[in-house]
Amino acid sequence: MALYSEKVMDHFRNPRNVGVIEDADGIGEVGNAKCGDIMKFYIKVDDGIITDIKFETFGCGSAIASASMATELIKGQPVEKALELTNRAVVEALDGLPVHKIHCSVLAEEVIKAALKDYYDKNGIEYDPAMFPETQDCEHCEL
Ligand code: FES
Repeated sequence: MALYSEKVMDHFRNPRNVGVIEDADGIGEVGNAKCGDIMKFYIKVDDGIITDIKFETFGCGSAIASASMATELIKGQPVEKALELTNRAVVEALDGLPVHKIHCSVLAEEVIKAALKDYYDKNGIEYDPAMFPETQDCEHCEL
């Protein structure tokens, strides 16, 4: 059996929503302490809906595929829905990742939350700080 699913390979080879949004409403950037990789997300929000999203990453193939899939999952969704996106949902949508690559999908979950937090902060929207924990723990991180 192949190490990576066809969906992972597709999103790695043809990542969706790569780039920068110059006038983004929220920007999130996170780094993976385990491997040093970096991911950055830009979002546009209109009337509570994420109307556009772009990403850049200095990361591995699994990070690229995770970011690409995450952008597809939350584009067009309400902000509250995007906040609920977990790395597990990203992995499932990709038809799985190897266990030692699960931590790459955690970056995608963290960066979405970071971009949404930035959006809330910039717009003076109140929120419970518990919604944005400093880092997510990943029991599979062994790098
Ligand atoms: Fe660093 Fe995948 S994000 S190895």
